[in-house]
Amino acid sequence: MGIILKTAAEIDGIRKAGHIARGALNHIAPHIQAGITTLAINEMVEAYLAEHGAIAATKGYKGYPASSCISLNDVICHGIPSDKDVLKDGDIVNVDVTAILNGFYGDTCRMYLVGDVSPEAQKLVEVTKECLNLGIKQCYPGNYLSNIGFAISNYARRNGYSVVTDFCGHGVGIKFHEDPEVLHEDSRNRGPKLRPGMTFTIEPMINQGKARSKVDRLDGWTARTIDGKLSAQFEHTVLITPSGVEVLTDIDNEYPIS
Ligand code: MF3
Ligand code: CO
Ligand code: CO
Repeated sequence: MGIILKTAAEIDGIRKAGHIARGALNHIAPHIQAGITTLAINEMVEAYLAEHGAIAATKGYKGYPASSCISLNDVICHGIPSDKDVLKDGDIVNVDVTAILNGFYGDTCRMYLVGDVSPEAQKLVEVTKECLNLGIKQCYPGNYLSNIGFAISNYARRNGYSVVTDFCGHGVGIKFHEDPEVLHEDSRNRGPKLRPGMTFTIEPMINQGKARSKVDRLDGWTARTIDGKLSAQFEHTVLITPSGVEVLTDIDNEYPIS
């Protein structure tokens, strides 16, 4: 246990896995439209990973059955792709992919808007994306890990939203879930300091209503909001560099390497 600092060769492997995971999310984007099932989306993810020599970390993980998690509207995370779930106009949906390539793990997720989405839902998605961005801005050597969650929770609360605390970010790279836990609601200047070579996810889940979640009793995975209100999530795998941060799952140069 403890936080593993990665070598240059390991970082290279995690970056390659991360780029494939993100490539899958970009690849499916034009297909996320009303009428498609979440099972069909999962199949596209699985095919993309296979074409790139990778496999999905989720498939068979603690019994999880699919190559992605697909979480619709009030589903916070870990939605299981299904041929019963057909996307419809106005939905917001998250797809979360973790690729394993040559033994290394890259983990990322994003939201998609289906057709005409209400201004309220659009705002939740935009604020959640900004929560991730603010968390990434806290990533530099010597800063406290907890300042990530401090920045995220302040911004979410200022916008009238709540932060899910039943799930958190995590070290990633050599294994799927490593130390440390990355809390998305946290206090200032606590816990370990960030050091070059750390790789972990930031993956805030932000709710319109109450923060609490309940896991589906039948499938044992699907986590929903307790009040049926919407939830959104964005996730990247980041590397602490000597001078700042590299987003290892960014293939669109949204986050310049510092
Ligand atoms: N990819 C998710 C994460 O961000 C984990 C999914 S675990 C599963 O940590 F078992 F639900 F697939
Ligand atoms: Co993920
Ligand atoms: Co994750």
